[in-house]
Order: sequence, then structure tokens, then C-alpha cells
Amino acid sequence: MALERTFSIIKPDATRRNLTGAINAKIEAAGLRIVAQKRVHMTRKQAETFYAVHKERPFFGELVEQMSAAPVVVQVLEGDNAIKRYRDVMGATNPANADAGTIRKEFALNMGENSVHGSDAPETAAIEIAQWFSGNEIVG
Ligand code: CMP
Repeated sequence: MALERTFSIIKPDATRRNLTGAINAKIEAAGLRIVAQKRVHMTRKQAETFYAVHKERPFFGELVEQMSAAPVVVQVLEGDNAIKRYRDVMGATNPANADAGTIRKEFALNMGENSVHGSDAPETAAIEIAQWFSGNEIVG
């Protein structure tokens, strides 16, 4: 299996409810290592840049508003097949469709306030990690 890195965000709906530790426990129980982590309050501009791929979608304005409304925790996770592994631990984007035991099934409020983000492919993981971390902040 390939050792891989993925980018994660613990979103405002989760940090507001003091769920950072509970979510990190699920990440670690799934065999992923948190090799970088920091709490930041995204500006609107940073949220717009991060989610630029969605800028034509009807939910873009609300997404930017929600992501910049309160602090988030940005992370780099490392492990075998980390991208897919983390997406499995997160569960479906819409918590109503998420499997039992996943982060979104247990903690998400709705499609927009869905507690976590994880990269969807190696190329996006590299771009997202570089947006938030310099190389010497990632300690594997
Ligand atoms: P995330 O994985 O962070 O990527 C884009 C985010 O947009 C997604 O999680 C959801 O929080 C949010 N979102 C809101 N509405 C939708 C929708 N209809 N389809 C996909 N994502 C949505």
C-alpha cells in the first residue's frame, strides 16, 4: 500500500461545538497520523480561493460565509491510502447518506455544515496542503 498525505479541515460547525478532539480521535483510530495541524480563522478571500472549483455552484456564497464565520483546524493526515481512507472515515457529503460510525453521520448538521473536508485526489491534496502549510510545518 502507498503511504500518502491528504489535507483535512475541521470546519466551523465542529470547532464551535468543541468537537476537534472527538474528530481527531476518529482520525487516529482509522490509522491516520496527524502530521501537521493548526487552528486558523479563514478570511473570505482564503475561503473563496480554497473553494474556487465550486465558484459557479449555487451554494458557493453560503459555503464561503460558513467557512469564514469561525475558526477551523487545518491538518495534514498521513497513512496508507490516506485520501480514500479519510474519505471513508468522513462519510458522504450529505450526512443523511453517511454510513454509521463516520464523522459526518455522528457529528455533521447538514450538507453545508458537514464538520469536515478531505481532499478528493492526490493532485488536489498537494495543492490544498501547499495552500496552508510550508514544508517544515509537516513532521511525519
Ligand atoms: P466539502 O468536502 O468541504 O466540499 C465542498 C463543500 O460544499 C461540501 O463539503 C459541503 O460542505 C458544501 N456543500 C453545500 N451544498 C453542497 C451540495 N449541494 N453539493 C456538494 N457540496 C455542497
